[in-house]
This record gives sequence, C-alpha cells and structure tokens, in this order.
Amino acid sequence: MCGIVGYIGKQTACPILINGLTALEYRGYDSAGIASIENNKICVMKDKGRVSNLNNIKGINKLDGTVGIAHTRWATHGKPSKENAHPHMDNSETFAVVHNGIIENYNELRNFLTDNGYKFLSQTDTEVIPNLIHYHFSKDSYADDNKFLRAVNQATKDLKGSFAIEVLSNLYPDKMIVVRKDSPLVIGKGTTGYHIASDIPALLEYTRDFYLLNDYEFAVMDKDSIKFYNENLVEHEKEIKNIEWDASAAEKNGYEDYMLKEIFEQPIAIRETIGSRLKLGEHCDFSDIEISKEYLSTINKIFIVACGTAMHAGLTGKKFLENLCKIPVEVDIASEFRYRNPIINEKTLCIFISQSGETADTIAALKLCKSKGAKTLAVSNVIGSSITRESDYTIYTHAGPEIAVASTKAYTSQVVLLGILAIYFAEILESTDSKVLEDLKKDILDLPKKIETSLATTDEVKKFAKKIHKEKDVFFIGRGSDYNVALEGSLKLKEISYIHSEAYASGELKHGPIALIEKGITVISILTDENLIEKSISNIVEVISRGAKTFIVTNQNLSNSDFDTVIKIEKTNPLLSPILSVVPLQLLAYFISKEKGLDVDKPRNLAKSVTVE
Ligand code: F6R
Repeated sequence: MCGIVGYIGKQTACPILINGLTALEYRGYDSAGIASIENNKICVMKDKGRVSNLNNIKGINKLDGTVGIAHTRWATHGKPSKENAHPHMDNSETFAVVHNGIIENYNELRNFLTDNGYKFLSQTDTEVIPNLIHYHFSKDSYADDNKFLRAVNQATKDLKGSFAIEVLSNLYPDKMIVVRKDSPLVIGKGTTGYHIASDIPALLEYTRDFYLLNDYEFAVMDKDSIKFYNENLVEHEKEIKNIEWDASAAEKNGYEDYMLKEIFEQPIAIRETIGSRLKLGEHCDFSDIEISKEYLSTINKIFIVACGTAMHAGLTGKKFLENLCKIPVEVDIASEFRYRNPIINEKTLCIFISQSGETADTIAALKLCKSKGAKTLAVSNVIGSSITRESDYTIYTHAGPEIAVASTKAYTSQVVLLGILAIYFAEILESTDSKVLEDLKKDILDLPKKIETSLATTDEVKKFAKKIHKEKDVFFIGRGSDYNVALEGSLKLKEISYIHSEAYASGELKHGPIALIEKGITVISILTDENLIEKSISNIVEVISRGAKTFIVTNQNLSNSDFDTVIKIEKTNPLLSPILSVVPLQLLAYFISKEKGLDVDKPRNLAKSVTVE
C-alpha cells in the first residue's frame, strides 16, 4: 500500500526522500512523488510508475531544500497518474500534503470545499486535506506560532476514515507537521535531523531511535527540535523507543531477492522467536504479558483472527491450543469475522495475528472484540504497530523485518510463537501432562536445525519448478496440519507466480474437485502426519491413476518410483510439522516465479501491509 517518507534537518532532503521511497517500494505502489521547500516555495515533483522515474524529472537534481515529504501511491481513488500522485497542494499552493489511508467522507468534504470556491485537480480523496487546511487557516484570525498547527488540527477533525499525513507550508518553511489515525507513521531521530516514514525498515539506515505516534497525536518538527501535542493541542513529552532491528536485516545481503533471503533466514528467525521464552526443565517465560491462572481458567473460547498467511498460521495455532489447553478455538478471516456477529464476551480470549500489525480488517476485528468485553492478545512482528497498541497483551515474533510481499519467515515464526504460547497456557492451566510438554519443547528447540534440511531441498525443488512453471492450474492436498500447509503453499504460488491453484483437504477430493483431475495436472501433497499416512496415500494414488503429476513433501520413507518428485524433510511432533513442510512450498513458488521472469518481491496488485479495508 502507499508509503510515506519525510525529512527535516541539516542535509539536502531530496536524496534522503528518494532513498526512503526506494526502501518502501516493497509495499506496492503505482506512482511516486516528492515535495520540498525551495527558497520559501513548495516544489512538487511526481509521476506515474517507479520511484526511479523521479530521477528523470527535469530539475530534481537541483533541489537543495532541507525539508521535504514524499510518497509512493497505491491507487484507491482515481487511476494511477501524475495528477493523482502525491504530494497534493491546496489551490493557493501554500500547503502540501502526502497521505496514507482513506478519507471516507471525501465526497462530502469535496462538495463543501467546492461550494466554498475550491477547485480539484485530481480524483483523489487526499486532495481535500490541503484545501481543508487552507480553509481553516484562512478562517483563523490569530497570527501566532500555532496557527499552522491549529489549521492542521481543525482539518483532521473534519476527516472520517484513516490517515497518516505529513504537511509542509511555504509560510512555515522550516517546519513540518505530521499526524496519524489508524494508519502507521513513525519518526526516527537521526544524527542530522528527523526522518519520518510509514514503516520502520525505511529508516533503519539512519537511526534505530523512534517516536511511535498515537492516533490524533501531532508532531511539529523543525531541524533540531520536535514537539508533541494531543488532539486538544496540549503539548506533552514523548518517550523515544529503541528498535533493535539490524540495518542489514532490511538489505538483500547477496541474495537475488528479499523473498529468497527471508526463506533462508528462517532458522535464525525461529531462534529469535524462541529467544529466552522456552527452556528445557523450566516453565515458559511470557513475563511480558503476565496472564494469571485466575483469568485463564475463566476462558471457555478462543478466537484467532487474521488475514491471509497470518490466518494460516492461526489454523495451526488452533491445533496447539485445543490439544494442549483443551479450550475450543475458532479461526476466522478478519474481514468475515467483523460482519458475522460473533458470540464474544468476557470469557472469550481473542488472538490477532499480524506480521505488520497494521492490517485494517484485523485491527477493526480487534476493536470489535474489545467493545464486547473480551481480552485481546496481539501476535505481531512490528514493535509499536497499531495492533500492539490496541490490544491488552502483545507478544512479538522477533523475526526481523520482512520486506518481500509474500510472507515466509513471519509465518513460521508465528506458528512457533503460537506453539510456545499454548505450552505456556497449558502450564498455567495444568491441562497437559508435563512430560508431553517437555517433549514438545525439545522439538521446538530442534526446529532451527531441522529446518536446514527443508532448505537443503532447494535444488530438487528448483528442478520441479522448471518442469511445471508453464502450468495453468495446480492442486495442493493434505490432511490435518498438512491441509493447513496446503492452504499456505497454494496462496504462495498464486501470489508470486500468478498460477491458479486450489488447496483441498485430501478427503474432500472425492466430493467434487477430483472431477478436475486429468492427465498432466500437477497435484502437490503434504504428507507428514503418521496417523493419516495411509488414507493420504490412497488419495494420492487416486489422482495418479487419473494421470496427475505428483510432488510430495514428506517425512516418511516413500518410494520415489511411485511419485514424480518426493521431497524429504525431517520428522518432528505433528503439531510442528507445518514449520518444516511449508519451506519446500515457499521455495517452489519462488522458483516458479523466477522461471516466469516475474518480480518475486513485488507481485502485481499486492501490498505488504493492507491498511485499507
Ligand atoms: C501472503 C501475505 C498476506 C498477509 C496478510 C496479512 O504472503 O503476506 O496474505 O499475510 O495480508 O498481513 P499481516 O500479517 O501484516 O496482517
């Protein structure tokens, strides 16, 4: 989705802004632009297409202002075009704004402004913002220092929806104002000034010290100071947070693509997720959330709510929690959950999984659960993200920044963390034999090593990818946890290779989809649960006898001669097998995408964090 960058300090803003936009390219976008203050005038340069196109705009190299804002736009209101690209200015060119989010009442505001003589040059919702600021500014008869801030504040009071905005004014050439509501925005304190972005990785090159803005919190900056105000414009102090992510973690480090790097980072990511939370012979340590036995014993239902890959991690989380804690768990897609009137009360615990912590539907579902009296627990990868600030409890995956749009290491880290959480709950509730828990802990601690075997399948997977990259339809099948992995494998393939694929519970094949199996169709099976092997093999044989090509990910000793490709992974506790079996499927999607010459890290139409509903 859209990305925001800003800089105010002692250095020339333009190269810093373009660098920041480049770092945010992974979020997905279709146009880009910057505005800086040049000799007390706002200069806007923008265009359709890639950030690199900005370098071709005449005069961009001559910009030497030290205050600037920038944006990558992912079209919502109005097609991708130069006119619709941000920054947008008011009619008098006094204010320039970049905006992430959606202004829901923009039609109403546009009509109001039109009636007041304002004209619109774009089809965007954003263009109402600079004009509203101008409207309020011109109505304010006090000419004190806070006039600019008051106008921005008044304008935000008129907005319905979500926004993260940066505002410049030629009347205040040394200032920048930023504010957010339900859309991410962070301010980094660098050595030469303040860096603003919608996403932490864009700023890791400059700093690891961040101010994380709350909803309706305003920051007013000049080159060497920053002031924070609440929505009543009362000034307050704000704590700076040190984010431990390593700057190189947001770089490719010799890999061709971020996705491949992130697939190979999974052993480290899982080690970081385990951290000091899990040790043999000791109870799990989640001292950061302190859930009491008294509270946990009252819980009779858990909801896990998330979107996409995070929801798939939730499906495995359900198995952990039901098996170990004996509490019924339902897993929901956030966008469905919100509108299905779920039965929630104070005896319900609601868990929200979100790598970015900014997914609009997941946040809305969380707010719904809170309003019904349930306690909420966030599982996120991004420190201080919106979801973590809204929820009662937060646990972090610590997988490091995930840049590729297709989620890989975040998924496996989420599954590991949900496993540890379930053990922690089971220890509190004494709901599972301690020997069973101890064995599971051992298996979790062995995962980083065992996942290396899954990664070692790369060459074989690559060969199969070459063989099937031209196909139009692929099927994924599995039973139990293997079915959850089939869903995730199928999503990965769709996202980055644009091949249509379907995931089915193996037992469902006969109830319809087997009609689609014909000579030459590829069926990918995941086969790791010993208790379900015989039944699963029968399903595979059924598709082979109808002419299907088979790619099998298994921890069993299967004869290669019966199947086209058998990918062997390590054995582990069946609850944990998704962490090992998903890896060859991530690699398969990756290599098919490469074979087809596609942009693996930035697949078409997709965005890394989906901040609009
Ligand atoms: C798939 C993928 C998406 C995300 C989904 C939720 O590879 O990345 O399906 O999992 O958009 O995103 P988060 O976890 O940020 O809430």
